[in-house]
Amino acid sequence: MTTRMVKALPYPEDRDLVDRIIGDKAGRPGALLGILEELQDHNHYKYLPMETLEYVAAKTGVPQSQVYGVASFYALFNLDPQGTHTVTICRGTACHTRGSRALLERVKLQFGLQEVGDGTDKPTLTTPDRRFTIRTVACFGQCALAPVVEVDHAIRGHVTEQALIREIEVLRKETAR
Ligand code: FES
Repeated sequence: MTTRMVKALPYPEDRDLVDRIIGDKAGRPGALLGILEELQDHNHYKYLPMETLEYVAAKTGVPQSQVYGVASFYALFNLDPQGTHTVTICRGTACHTRGSRALLERVKLQFGLQEVGDGTDKPTLTTPDRRFTIRTVACFGQCALAPVVEVDHAIRGHVTEQALIREIEVLRKETAR
């Protein structure tokens, strides 16, 4: 570990936790990936704030550009706050052929997000109340089940608009409690 100038974290109470995670993993093979993964898991909005990346760089001695490069390269890492629930719609060829574009548009409409971004396949959209994040993926490797949607890590196959909206509405009511 290094004694380079360490910038403050946005939430000082997190510092002990972050230091422990770095201390547990630093110096091991694949340490950076493991550190970032655990830090994201502990973040309330499941993302890696820029201040956290800078802090990791300063504490581990890994150049900031490398830390940011890893965080931005892997789809597993989020650089923006995520919603409580995640709906990931496959936009691969098989799923596209079986209507995934319509699913995506329907979900965006349900959340009033149809005007956000470029209005097409922006990879990640989060509702302003941060209850839902909508993502797209190139292929889940489950093409026989097309169209495929993942809702909070559970894969759904042969998804219809009605079934997807029903599931989202159940989650929305649960989150509102
Ligand atoms: S194209 Fe959707 S799972 Fe492969």
